[in-house]
Amino acid sequence: MNARELKDKYVKFFESKDHQEIPSASLVPENDPTTLFISAGMHPLVPYLLGQPHPLGVRLVDVQKCVRTGDIDDVGDTYHHTFFEMLGNWSLGDYFKETMIPWSFEFLTKELGVDPSHLHVTVFAGDGDAPCDNDSAKIWQSVGIPENRIHFLPKEDNWWGPAGSTGPCGPDSEMFIDTQPELPEVEFKLGCKQARYIEIWNDVFMQYNKQADGSFQLLDKANVDTGFGVERNTAILSGFNDNYMSSIWQPIIKKIEELSGAKYSSPDKVENDVSDENLRKIFTNRSIRIIADHLRSAVFIIADGVEPSNKERGYVLRRLIRRAIRQGKLLGIDTNFTSQIAQAVIDNQDNYAGIYPELNDNLQKILTTLDSEESKFRKTLNNGLREIQKLIDRNKSVSGREAFTLYESFGFPVEMIQEELSKNNLTLDINEFNQARDEHIEKSRTLSAGKFKSGLADHSEIMVKYHTATHLLHTALRQVLGDHVQQSGSNITSERLRFDFSHPDKLSDDQIQQVQDIVNQQIKLAQPVSVASMKFTEAQASGALAFFGAKYPEVVTVYTVGAGDNFFSREVCTGPHVQNTSELGLFEIQKEESAGSGKRRIYAVLK
Ligand code: ALA
Repeated sequence: MNARELKDKYVKFFESKDHQEIPSASLVPENDPTTLFISAGMHPLVPYLLGQPHPLGVRLVDVQKCVRTGDIDDVGDTYHHTFFEMLGNWSLGDYFKETMIPWSFEFLTKELGVDPSHLHVTVFAGDGDAPCDNDSAKIWQSVGIPENRIHFLPKEDNWWGPAGSTGPCGPDSEMFIDTQPELPEVEFKLGCKQARYIEIWNDVFMQYNKQADGSFQLLDKANVDTGFGVERNTAILSGFNDNYMSSIWQPIIKKIEELSGAKYSSPDKVENDVSDENLRKIFTNRSIRIIADHLRSAVFIIADGVEPSNKERGYVLRRLIRRAIRQGKLLGIDTNFTSQIAQAVIDNQDNYAGIYPELNDNLQKILTTLDSEESKFRKTLNNGLREIQKLIDRNKSVSGREAFTLYESFGFPVEMIQEELSKNNLTLDINEFNQARDEHIEKSRTLSAGKFKSGLADHSEIMVKYHTATHLLHTALRQVLGDHVQQSGSNITSERLRFDFSHPDKLSDDQIQQVQDIVNQQIKLAQPVSVASMKFTEAQASGALAFFGAKYPEVVTVYTVGAGDNFFSREVCTGPHVQNTSELGLFEIQKEESAGSGKRRIYAVLK
């Protein structure tokens, strides 16, 4: 089964159970400063899981683009990916376990043809925060899973979420497939590398809202959130034990083979044999997988508007591209190749054509971004080589710490440093290198933990205020500068808002003052903020601003500031917002600057 068929089957199955399909949200979270990328299907739905009504109702299904970079160093094996697609369905306070579990069983066995005797399931064993999930175990038994294939596991294994440090979460029930059913059953164990039982689907029973103090509060309504990984399941359902053997990856791999002359070997033939010959093949497979994985992620990330840089999302993108180029070098590719791989990703008819119009719409941008980033990096690598030579000439050695700096700042592969040293009859102190690397990882972990500190969906009072202030600012800018002003980005922290918009020239002091005055006037007028659901076409007809280039579902939520036909601002938006502008206080623009060609950026605070 190819990925496209699998996705169609899933969506159709849930449509037949009265679910509405929603489009994949952008990989870049909207108005959520606490996390860099969308990492699960539920992530864009957090406000609805917390109780806000969704305009399309209480049963939803989708295919969501996700990026998880936590395991970036593990990519290269048979099953880790940085970008992946997640199929999911949701009950927003509607059906619960007794409906979801039989549906999961029906979809797996009837639609996908999984032999029921190959299934194992897990349920939550219970602890001080939530009781043992005997209900789910009983439901699994009632559909035909025998007791000895139902495993009770603790929170580390059978609890999902929150995606940040606070928010919706709950006990889950995971489904596993026995990939070697012909062998006698062995103890059911999770987490080992060559796992015989592979997780294929996760039903999360989102009943709780984790609080900042670590406690779990029951949500008013119990939700269902499920996640079904497209890459892994396409491979399993096609009988592969290496995800990269499936039709999602093979066209990309063919292109890498063509450009490098290297050959991808079926892992069945090589992974368990450590002869020199096989080791070379294993390393080649690893390089090919990293190139395919990282450049596929880069394509989707660029298509969602991110550019390589040294900060946050741009840095992740840069790292992915550089790591891919490094692996390309190991395979002997010494000229620019990344844009050709990108083209193979986009051309993959089996998967993406037609589903993600942003790929074709941004085709040229994707190709030129990769190409120019690659040229820059190749220059950097040459500088790095010169740097190594300087160290060798000066000190007759390169310490482990210096090597790590080269690795970190030039993105210089450690193997290449070793090669350069051995050419000069020197060796690398790998222990010192590893120590420097571990210290660095620890530091980044602390930094990224800080990033999640305020929770995934930070709906604190001040963030909500800034969100409404952003709408006022948007309309004020259009009134002062003209209707060509379009929002091109927004980022809110508890200290300030940052708003990017299209406008060719620097704003004069007078224009800034006018914009600020208009916003403050709206605050003084104590305008009501109201919310309504309507068809997207109606929303546009009624004057609602929508984020240019974004995809919206058929029915959307619209926020209006001001009453009657003379409202001040109306935008398609998921919220939340304050109820009255008088809650905002005093609005002050602190800075206005360029945000790239044809774009301006404003920083503003509420006092
Ligand atoms: N949110 C759950 C997951 O990502 C379904 O596995």
